[in-house]
Amino acid sequence: MIRDLQDRILQLKKEKDCCILAHSYMSEDICEIADFTGDSYALSVKAKSMPQSMIVMCGVRFMAETAKMLSPDKKVYLANGDAGCPMAEQMSVEYIESLKKQLPGYAVVAYVNTTAELKAISDYCCTSSSAVKICRSIPEQNILFIPDRNLGSYVKAQVPEKTFRLLDGGCPAHAAMKAEDALAAKKAHPGALLLVHPECPAEVSALADYVGSTAGIMTFAEKSDAREFIIGTENAIVEHLQYKCPDKSFYPMSKHLVCSNMKLTTLTDVYNTLKGCGGEEIIMDPELISKAVKCIDRMIEYGG
Ligand code: 13P
Ligand code: SF4
Repeated sequence: MIRDLQDRILQLKKEKDCCILAHSYMSEDICEIADFTGDSYALSVKAKSMPQSMIVMCGVRFMAETAKMLSPDKKVYLANGDAGCPMAEQMSVEYIESLKKQLPGYAVVAYVNTTAELKAISDYCCTSSSAVKICRSIPEQNILFIPDRNLGSYVKAQVPEKTFRLLDGGCPAHAAMKAEDALAAKKAHPGALLLVHPECPAEVSALADYVGSTAGIMTFAEKSDAREFIIGTENAIVEHLQYKCPDKSFYPMSKHLVCSNMKLTTLTDVYNTLKGCGGEEIIMDPELISKAVKCIDRMIEYGG
């Protein structure tokens, strides 16, 4: 049944000149039919370079918007139009504009998990895999980092030579993690390395053997000589790593580390989008695109 649906999607993909991009938090059946699976940074870079005239994004809204901004002439669809990222909606343009007035000379570095409207008033964009590199290499000394406090704190610790202002945003799933979750997982799996996403609080990252983006965590686990790993990011990564490395063992740090928005997209959504009876086409104001894409272009320039 799944195989049959996957075959029909692969056929439609060819007929429609479409590429399917999937965030690594998607389920295995979606990753199998995707042209490319990766973290937020890799998806942005791919969206710019894919030759097809249509993109179906399996992920959340800001990812589809980013793809549209980087390929405005292509038709870009979000496979499930209800899939948003709560963090992206946490701060209003008015609030950030008022902070910019209070902090003259500060560069605004926006996590890619933001709306296009926020990107349009930011100087640079970053993802979790590029944030340290970008904050270190931009010319400005003072940085207003929006919206994720945990990622901002992690970057601040890695870039001590700069001054940071952080806000109180964050990912509801990662930010809910506690040191006790990490300690309980370590107790259950004493021989395992703990790999943690920087959207988790500092008390969790402090217990980790490695802190990095989704792609960073996956690469670390694949290359490591260790045999057991506790995964401190969305639990889809536990499953993907177990497929990729069957001779190693992967455990979730917490059964609660689940992004309900990322779980919304199904193989049927992808099929319906390709059939023209599902998904949501991303339509954006060209003026908004031209303002917001600048900080994404700078992200690729400084983060590459
Ligand atoms: P990365 O893909 O940058 O690791 O971020 C994880 C995430 O939360 C995506 O929304
Ligand atoms: Fe947003 Fe967190 Fe889900 Fe990522 S995991 S899409 S940051 S809610």
